[in-house]
Amino acid sequence: YGTSRINERGHLEIGGCDVVELAEAYGTPLMIYDEVLIRRQCRAFVQAFQDKGMKAQVAYASKAFSSVAMCQLIEEEGLSLDVVSGGELYTALKAGFPPERIHFHGNNKSPEELNMALEAGIGCFVVDNFTELAMLHTLAEARKQQVKILLRITPGVEAHTHDYIATGQEDSKFGFDLNSGQALQALKQAVNQPYYHVLGLHAHIGSQIFDTKAFQLVIQRLAGFVQEAGNELGWPLSVLNLGGGFGIRYTREDTPLSPQEYVYALCDGVKQEWQAINQPLPEVWIEPGRSIVGEAGTTVYTIGAHKEVPGVRQYISVDGGMSDNLRVALYQAKYEACLANRMTAERSEVYTVAGKLCETGDILIWDLPLPPVKQGDLLAVFCTGAYGYSMANNYNRIPRPAVVMTRDSEAHLIIQRESYEDLLRLDVPLVSKVTQK
Ligand code: LLP
Repeated sequence: YGTSRINERGHLEIGGCDVVELAEAYGTPLMIYDEVLIRRQCRAFVQAFQDKGMKAQVAYASKAFSSVAMCQLIEEEGLSLDVVSGGELYTALKAGFPPERIHFHGNNKSPEELNMALEAGIGCFVVDNFTELAMLHTLAEARKQQVKILLRITPGVEAHTHDYIATGQEDSKFGFDLNSGQALQALKQAVNQPYYHVLGLHAHIGSQIFDTKAFQLVIQRLAGFVQEAGNELGWPLSVLNLGGGFGIRYTREDTPLSPQEYVYALCDGVKQEWQAINQPLPEVWIEPGRSIVGEAGTTVYTIGAHKEVPGVRQYISVDGGMSDNLRVALYQAKYEACLANRMTAERSEVYTVAGKLCETGDILIWDLPLPPVKQGDLLAVFCTGAYGYSMANNYNRIPRPAVVMTRDSEAHLIIQRESYEDLLRLDVPLVSKVTQK
């Protein structure tokens, strides 16, 4: 992936930094981001729209990995930012991210979150349901503030990794349903509200998508809706946001397209469908998360205990697990890994890599071929950059790892390792009611 290579010492190197040295300097588990690769992905998405001559906005979905440094990098690359909570919004604002390039998502934004976003003057709200449609307008009216919105549509197309299903009505907690008439009703309501400026529509159909068929179908359905709504409301659509979900290569079995291939397909699809309905081309917005940071992240663990179940399998345990990577336990996600300190040794054994948490399901990788391991070896698990740290937790009171970014043989700490003191920061001691005799 990216700038990763094996150096002359037989160690894994990322961004010109020896991973063994990084582990010594920062401890393990350690998350390492390849800054060059993140920037390359950002630029590939932006460039692809330029190639096609399409007006566009690429918003990084910060739920995949959010931190102050990450928001600053995204700002430097000129992308927009998609946030889904007050916490992600707060992180972006503290990072100095320009509010007008922030889009706010979520199916249950609280009045406090909406007010915080109004106060900041963010660029766009993606309105998800009728409750929000009414509430946001009331809040905007109280502030005499115009707000730009997109309506989130549930298009009845659901993409799976290798497949998609198109249903008449999708049973989803997100968005206004297209087929039952909800979407049209929401649109009529929105365009009649004086403090709303309805920019257009949004649809996100899933994650880790490997082909473009499902996107084509969504574009078709939205074009049909625009035609129907346009005739009735005389409403010009200026933005079509097609969400994120572009796949990445966790293992050799995954066969994603490149950012360019995804974007070209979206642009061609929109051009074709919009020509068919004889409407002016909208701006196309996308919200990639995983495809920007996923492959750029590597987690390094120290190997500790070894256990053999005779005739069945060998377990090796690492100093992290489902506390820093919940995806295996939650989605049966698959990863590839290697020994960062002995990259060229022959992989003559097969191990199951377990985490250190008190949970039988805390397994990171089943049946991984590795050289014979010793206590203290370093295991590098690839492709952990998306939804790894962002879903990290303190189960078993395990502190969250440190995160570094590497580039040009330099490493920069971007999130400190959590300390035991950090874990107790919010704890309040018991006020005892037991009277002493
Ligand atoms: N836009 C919307 C409205 C979304 O719901 C999502 C992801 C994205 C964009 C970004 O999708 P991406 O490009 O990252 O696939 N925790 C799960 C993934 C949850 C995705 C939620 N929504 C995982 O670890 O696979």
